[in-house]
Amino acid sequence: MNRREMMGATGLAAMGLMSTAAPTAMGQMQHGYDPLAIGYDAKAGKYVLPPLPYDYNALEPAIDAQTMQIHHDKHHAGYVRKLNAAIDALEKARADGDYSDIKSLSRAVSFNGGGHTLHTLFWHNMAPVGKGGVPSGKLLEMINRDFGSVTNFKNQFIAAASGVEGSGWGICGMDMLSKRLLIIQGENQQKLSTWGLMPILVCDVWEHAYYLKYQNKRGDYVKAFWDVINWHEVAKRIGTHA
Ligand SMILES: [Fe+2]
Repeated sequence: MNRREMMGATGLAAMGLMSTAAPTAMGQMQHGYDPLAIGYDAKAGKYVLPPLPYDYNALEPAIDAQTMQIHHDKHHAGYVRKLNAAIDALEKARADGDYSDIKSLSRAVSFNGGGHTLHTLFWHNMAPVGKGGVPSGKLLEMINRDFGSVTNFKNQFIAAASGVEGSGWGICGMDMLSKRLLIIQGENQQKLSTWGLMPILVCDVWEHAYYLKYQNKRGDYVKAFWDVINWHEVAKRIGTHA
C-alpha cells in the first residue's frame, strides 16, 4: 500500500469503517473518503468497483453478509463492467462512424452508470449500528426546514423507498436549483430522476438487496436500513453546496 492508499485507508479506519476484508481495488482510494471519486480510476480512464468500506457482516442484523457479498461482488461489479464496455463500444462507434447501436449503448451508459453511482453511494451511506451518528448541524437544519422534522423526513423516506414500483431506489437529494432536499422514487437505476438532484442518501430496493433475508417484506428491510444510515457521510455529501 503506497502513501496515498494509506491516507485513504487511514481515513476510513479513523471512522471505524475500514474493512479487514476489503475485496478489491484498495489502490483506488487515492481520493480518500469521497465515494464517487473512488468509483473511477482517472489514470486508467476506467470506472472501478470500490471496496466495501466495512466487512461483509458489518451491517448485520439489518443486512446479512451473504446479501452484501453477492450484491457488491456480483451485482455492482456487473454494472461497472457493463458501463466500461458501453463506453468502449461508443469509442468504437465514433471511430467507425457507425451509430446503428446508439440507442442501446446510450441506454447502457444511463442504466449502468446510474447503477454504479448509486451503489457506490449506497455502500458509503451505511455504517454498522451505532457508528453512523445522527443528523446534526447543517443537515439537521435542512431536514427541519424542508420536512418539518426528522420524524417527517424518516416517515416520508421509508414510505417512498418501500413503495417504489418494481426495482429501484429511495433517494433523498439536494435540488441544485432551490438547494432544498427532495425525496424521490427512482426506478431501475436511472428512471424517474430529476435533473440537478444530487443524491445524498440512497436505499437500494431491488430484490437483490434484501430478498435472501426479508423475502417479500421490503418494508421491514427499509426500516432496518434506517438503523444503519451513516449520517456523517450524508452530511458530507451536502458539503459546501448548501
Ligand atoms: Fe443493488
